[in-house]
Amino acid sequence: MTGASRGIGRSIAERLARDGRHVVLVARSVDGLAATEKSIKDAGGSCESRPCDMADGAAVQALVDGVAETHGRLDILVNNAGITRDTLLLRMSDEQWDEVLNVNLRSVFISCRAAIRPMMRGKFGRIVNIGSVSGLTGNSGQANYAAAKAALVGFTKTIAKEMGAKGITANVIAPGFIETDMTDVLGDAVKTAVLPNIPVRRFGKPEEIASAVAYATSDEAGYLTAQTIVVDGGLAS
Ligand code: NAI
Repeated sequence: MTGASRGIGRSIAERLARDGRHVVLVARSVDGLAATEKSIKDAGGSCESRPCDMADGAAVQALVDGVAETHGRLDILVNNAGITRDTLLLRMSDEQWDEVLNVNLRSVFISCRAAIRPMMRGKFGRIVNIGSVSGLTGNSGQANYAAAKAALVGFTKTIAKEMGAKGITANVIAPGFIETDMTDVLGDAVKTAVLPNIPVRRFGKPEEIASAVAYATSDEAGYLTAQTIVVDGGLAS
């Protein structure tokens, strides 16, 4: 479970732990991971923290290998870590492009490739990659982010096709506007302008993404694969 130190990722980790999973918490922030770990353990759940920079491909490979080796299995992979470096295309630097593509797409490729082997051994796997409505509709100022999130859709469908017969499912969950640090940086003017376009007339809560992830990663979701599940209050419809 990547990006578990705060926001949507923390919520997903708490929910999976509440559902009885042992959750491996991954993020860069040691303090953030400690807070998520405390919250899960205080509630009687089981988890461990493994700090990792998802931009570092070798570290991501070692992380997944290490988890599979320690536990002898790996059932679920949730790629949630993500960043934005928003600016209009005309002003977008190579670095802003590369940084977003590295964290939001390349890390997902590496972690999925690494996770598939232990999942195949266990004849079971649930992969959820967190996309975004930006990747489905495009969004001014987010050429890098929208490209990475759109690419996740084709990538995830491909895993579903290659791995369907092995008991491994792969889906994208694409949130709309959710109340987290990522959307906190949007000014009040932007938030007010967006609200009329959201049929439910509010931003979503991280727990509302977590419940979709809980279903998509459950044992009973074996026939749900290659899908993009949009959880956006109707925004992109
Ligand atoms: P956030 O900024 O609150 O949290 C992001 C998480 O990713 C943090 O735990 C952070 O430590 C981790 N992370 C970032 N870069 C990392 C790296 N290099 N290595 C390891 N961990 C790293 O973001 P939020 O809002 O919780 O977003 C989570 C996911 O949901 C992201 O993939 C984001 O793109 C996606 N999303 C969020 C939306 C929103 O409205 N908040 C809307 C659509 C998608």
